[in-house]
Amino acid sequence: MPDLDSILAAWGTHDRDDPFPLFAAVRERGPVLEVTLADGHPAWLVTRHDEARAALGDARLSKDMHAALASGDAVVAEGLPGPAFARHMLVVDPPDHTRLRRLVSAAFSVRRIERLEPHVRVVVDELLDGIAAQGPDAVVDLVASFAFPLPFTVICELLGVPVPDRQPFGDALKTLLGPTNTDAEYARAKRASDTVVAMLESLVEAKQRQPGDDLVSALISARDGDARLDQRELLSTIFQLIVAGHDTTTSLIGNSVVALLRHPDQLSALRAGTSRIPAAVEELLRYDAPVPHSTFRYAVEPIELGGVTIPAGAQVIINLASACRDEMQYPDAEELDIDRRDVRHLAFGHGIHFCLGAPLARMEGHVALGALLARFPELRLAVPPTELHWGHGDGLVLRGLSSLPVVPGPEARREP
Ligand code: HEM
Repeated sequence: MPDLDSILAAWGTHDRDDPFPLFAAVRERGPVLEVTLADGHPAWLVTRHDEARAALGDARLSKDMHAALASGDAVVAEGLPGPAFARHMLVVDPPDHTRLRRLVSAAFSVRRIERLEPHVRVVVDELLDGIAAQGPDAVVDLVASFAFPLPFTVICELLGVPVPDRQPFGDALKTLLGPTNTDAEYARAKRASDTVVAMLESLVEAKQRQPGDDLVSALISARDGDARLDQRELLSTIFQLIVAGHDTTTSLIGNSVVALLRHPDQLSALRAGTSRIPAAVEELLRYDAPVPHSTFRYAVEPIELGGVTIPAGAQVIINLASACRDEMQYPDAEELDIDRRDVRHLAFGHGIHFCLGAPLARMEGHVALGALLARFPELRLAVPPTELHWGHGDGLVLRGLSSLPVVPGPEARREP
């Protein structure tokens, strides 16, 4: 591993394929560290569980970067190019956050998620049919054929994105969320952002003209007393739900399959039914957190945390993947143990911004892993683990496999 100080001087350029030795080294260095982000901005990195939980719950750490930039007293990075109208619950503080979250929660109800489960099973079975049709010895990219299309189809159906629009929409989102290290990549991402904006605007117009039984229509008509979403909040919220609703779950499925295939004893216990899928999914979320770092926050006043003082105006980023492997919180934290009790990880965050989609992500994870493992008992990696690359996303907030080549093996015999 290169010298730790030089990594802290360009945080975000670390080895994305196996960042965990580095995360262990930064935890060792301290719970709250001053770093320079890869784009040159200074920031404070929170590495340990207790401090991470405290930071996520601290109202003095604001999410409102636009206010920070406008006030001129903060040194913050603006992040990825995204739709210019970004105004959703993850980028605002109370009371706006409370209002937006309440309006979206009303539309994103537990009942709606429960109603969705049988449909998720159908989508999973269709995707697995497609894999089976390629034959037991075929090399199949499990990201392209399963881990991506499942959550993407589900969130598109939930929101009411028409079928013909899904492929171009998915392509534009992939470019938008792809690497932006060079000027050319940044320009491409910006163009993709314009395409996404245009598609979202026409989706909202269509649902305003003709409402359906979908989440976009529900968001258009959502009311909480006199409160409602204005046009900018509506577009931002739909954009955020689409991004948060598929990319993260794609990583959950991909990371989980890799972790299980690399731990055959754990996989056998799951297959034999001696361990349970829901508990295993919690441990898999802890072991390889699909969102490795929180989104950015900034200190509205000086904050004492982990023995240091984060100055007012500083940008703060919480390393969730590191906190999830903190040995002070989890015995044998570096080990995957799908029977671990009471995992209580931070992979969905904590506090007022705790993931709104956690019930949907969990349900998709349970159905996807359960069906995949049951149907292909001899599923195996088609390449050595060292050839797997986590090149998707910015590597901080989103980190996903570029592809996952597997050989499905013969299908299990199914009950007639
Ligand atoms: C395994 C899958 C997922 C993971 C690991 C995950 C993780 C997270 C994390 C860590 C946060 C908090 C970020 C922060 O505080 O900076 C968050 C927030 C959020 N997530 Fe997820 N997420 C997942 C799936 C989903 C899905 C499927 C949806 C919706 C369809 C969703 C919607 C949201 C929303 C709306 C927020 C913002 C909540 C707020 O600001 O109040 N997420 N997620």
